Amino acid sequence: ISSFLNVEKEPITVLVTGQIGYALVPMIARGAMLGPDQPVILHMLDIQPAAEALKGVKMELVDAAFPLLRGIVATTDVVEACKGVNIAIMVGGFPRNKGMERKDVMSKNVSIYKAQASALEKHAAPNCKVLVVANPANTNALILKEFAPSIPEKNITCLTRLDHNRALGQISERIHVHVGDVKNVIIWGNHSSTQYPDVNHATVNTGTAHKPVRELVGDDNWLKTEFITTVQQRGAAIIQARKLSSALSAASSACDHIRDWVLGTPKYSLASCVINETNSNAGLKIDELNGDWSIVQGLKIDEFSRGKMDATAEELMEEKSLAYSCLK
Ligand code: LMR
Repeated sequence: ISSFLNVEKEPITVLVTGQIGYALVPMIARGAMLGPDQPVILHMLDIQPAAEALKGVKMELVDAAFPLLRGIVATTDVVEACKGVNIAIMVGGFPRNKGMERKDVMSKNVSIYKAQASALEKHAAPNCKVLVVANPANTNALILKEFAPSIPEKNITCLTRLDHNRALGQISERIHVHVGDVKNVIIWGNHSSTQYPDVNHATVNTGTAHKPVRELVGDDNWLKTEFITTVQQRGAAIIQARKLSSALSAASSACDHIRDWVLGTPKYSLASCVINETNSNAGLKIDELNGDWSIVQGLKIDEFSRGKMDATAEELMEEKSLAYSCLK
């Protein structure tokens, strides 16, 4: 009816913090995240030294004349940035500079995420959905959840879709099928080199059937070794090649994550995204068209997978205690 009457949807306000924002905001303004008929208002938050550059990004957004873009706030003030936000994409974080220990980075990020969580808690729209991209993504999301208790726990997630998409890409290249025909890979655990890309439930649509990836690849050794390490190390390989961390693929995957969450996954597709869930025998399914996710129960986990999952879970627990020790 609304399209018949030509009634426009209410704009959705999306906050983007930090620098891969430059790759992400045009995708959002073009409708890649929320759909081609969904107007958006963009809030961009960056740190004071980047204020001038942020102004430039705002100018470019105006110059690109995106029809869906109904407002732009470019600010270094966290309260202004968080006001009325429906979706928050947290890309900004403190990078690991030369000579910094892991604990130093963690401690910087814990305080950044604590402050931003409090601002979202007070000023975001009710039912705000949060996606944390900045590393250590899982732990930053945990801290955000801790300090934004009124945001439903189910609404705080971190990015695993980049790893998920990397796994799809590797399978597609290996067996020469379209990447869009590969489905149901799962990424378990930390967004780090301990993550476990699992293809035990993955299939390829061959046109006449959905065949198991395992069978089509026909090389378990490759799946258990090179495939896993390539996906685990892909972020580092990109940094090595570009001298910068991934931005285009991270931004595109962030769009996929939010789009599937808000608009639903295609029927029977699994999505990977990290949630605060202790039941590790579960995949994640996002219900069609209702903006909610649920956990797929009872997936069969073999001994090899269990070992990989336990290792990454252990690393996450260590990160968690390090983060909590930084809060003291
Ligand atoms: C990536 O996976 O590309 C990034 O998380 C890598 C990084 O450390 O920035």
